[in-house]
Amino acid sequence: MCGIIGYTGFRDAAPVLVEGLSKLEYRGYDSAGIALNTADGIKVYKKEGRLSVLADHLASKPVDGITVGLGHTRWATHGAPSDANSHPHTGRCGKVAIVHNGIIENYMELKAQLQGEGVCFASETDTEVAAQLIEKLYDGQPLATVARAYELLGGSFALGILFSDRPDELYAAKRDNPLIIGLGEKENFIASDIPAVLKYTKRYIVLEDGDMACITPDKVTVFNTKLEAVERPVQTALWDADAAEKGGYAHFMLKEMHEQPHTLRAVLNPRIKNGTPDFTGDGLNIDLISNASRLLLVACGSAMHAGLLGKNAFESIAGIPMDVELASEFRYRNPAISPGTVALIISQSGETADTLAALRMLKERGVPVVAIVNVVASTIAREADHVLYLYAGPEIAVATTKAFSSQAALLLLLAVGAANARGLLSPAQLEEYMEGFALLPVCVEDILANADRLMPSAKEIAKVDDAFFIGRCADYAAITEGSLKLKEISYIHSEAYAAGELKHGTISLITEGTPVIAVATQTAVYEKMASNIREVKARGANVTLICGAGAAAMESFSDHIIRLLPIPDLFLSNAAVVVMQMMAYYAAVERGCDVDKPRNLTKSVTVE
Ligand code: F6R
Repeated sequence: MCGIIGYTGFRDAAPVLVEGLSKLEYRGYDSAGIALNTADGIKVYKKEGRLSVLADHLASKPVDGITVGLGHTRWATHGAPSDANSHPHTGRCGKVAIVHNGIIENYMELKAQLQGEGVCFASETDTEVAAQLIEKLYDGQPLATVARAYELLGGSFALGILFSDRPDELYAAKRDNPLIIGLGEKENFIASDIPAVLKYTKRYIVLEDGDMACITPDKVTVFNTKLEAVERPVQTALWDADAAEKGGYAHFMLKEMHEQPHTLRAVLNPRIKNGTPDFTGDGLNIDLISNASRLLLVACGSAMHAGLLGKNAFESIAGIPMDVELASEFRYRNPAISPGTVALIISQSGETADTLAALRMLKERGVPVVAIVNVVASTIAREADHVLYLYAGPEIAVATTKAFSSQAALLLLLAVGAANARGLLSPAQLEEYMEGFALLPVCVEDILANADRLMPSAKEIAKVDDAFFIGRCADYAAITEGSLKLKEISYIHSEAYAAGELKHGTISLITEGTPVIAVATQTAVYEKMASNIREVKARGANVTLICGAGAAAMESFSDHIIRLLPIPDLFLSNAAVVVMQMMAYYAAVERGCDVDKPRNLTKSVTVE
């Protein structure tokens, strides 16, 4: 949801900024721009469209020797994508330039005031209002000016600010949107996310709400809104720069799908000790979850779908009732929360605005919150009572794959841990499940190694505008994610339907050749699924069956068959999602879609 970067040091700033923006494009790609603080004042270069448009523009007018600047990649909120609405924005006298991630909620009111004082605006954005305001307030004291602006600006922001008369300095301010400061040797950075600076440094600090900072090549000072200097701990990134590169794959999404055997082991293995789930390394006593009267999982999008898979496991093997809620609904509907409830908050980025708001609401109501997060030290990770990290490395493709699989696998491990703590598992059952955790990555390896077999089905799906996914129980949870993957990257409309529900209306949409992806991995409902597949087959559907072992009856009347390795049922639905990720990927590539950056989307949704 917009990515910002800033640099001050000894290198040419323009290539550093463009390189950094290339790692932030997942946050928005409606336009890109940079501002450089030159001896002749602040110079802004900005272009509607992908970062490559800006890079081509800069190549035609190289700007060498300037070592301080700001960059921005935009996901449009206020004002359509255009050159004029692109960031950086400047004050009318060009004394100030800013880049912004977030929404200035009182921008209309501020704009009217500034217009009343004769300020003319060049864009429709809320951000320009902040730029004009800061320039208007500027009295030669940058930090005091930023502090005054901080009080006047409503809403959320991560801001990078240049003052034309402060040639080496960058300023930053943060409220409700992420901002880190990368710490180098004789150079320092600001960025929305760590991958943007990894090429230069692994050391960074995370700004907190209310923080402002003055950054020079040699020094970083963080202040609170009273302008008192504050200390923030220095963190070291666990990833290296290669983790944020494609590494020879055609797309980040393909690379990230192929990382899944490794990332599954990374999330599971450290939490398995003496043949049982063990979360003591995370500082979490499983009794918190196993003693809960009810679990409440709140998340958005794919993270919520991972929660649906988790619900199946928590209820079926641990006997703990669980509600799964969309954060954007949950936070506004005054939900009834019963005593003894424990909340699970899931977020890859750890910054999703609705999920964060739900977390805060739960904490206000005294509900203990366990967060499952990928990005270390993100806001959700910092604010939750307990955090379990995914350790999946940076996920750059906008459509999540490896983080989803890690979230879903970690929920299974928590469910098995809770079932064990409640004394519900026989030694043989526990052993079977623990073996399942070792087999899940092996099953995923097999899916990836034999991905060619998905091609015929993916090519057929690529030709249509509508597709259906059907499944039951955990497979129903799995298809919600399969369907989302197909829609978001290939732009093929699809529906995920509980297989038994189709005949209550939607089966009327199945006609000759309609692709139906039937996921049937749960042996307890094999016969029911067989009937449902027959029902769609009888209406002319072209059926791709993703199944476990012993599904011969269903296989006999399906058009394409994707058999998964024989692993316990509890794990098969998770594995089936990887098949659907790959099918969506192939279908999108076949249609010529921009897989890593689907239209209108952004990875980190930091606005509501
Ligand atoms: C879809 C996708 C999104 C995210 C959702 C939540 O592929 O990635 O649906 O799952 O925006 O994001 P996080 O997990 O960062 O809170």
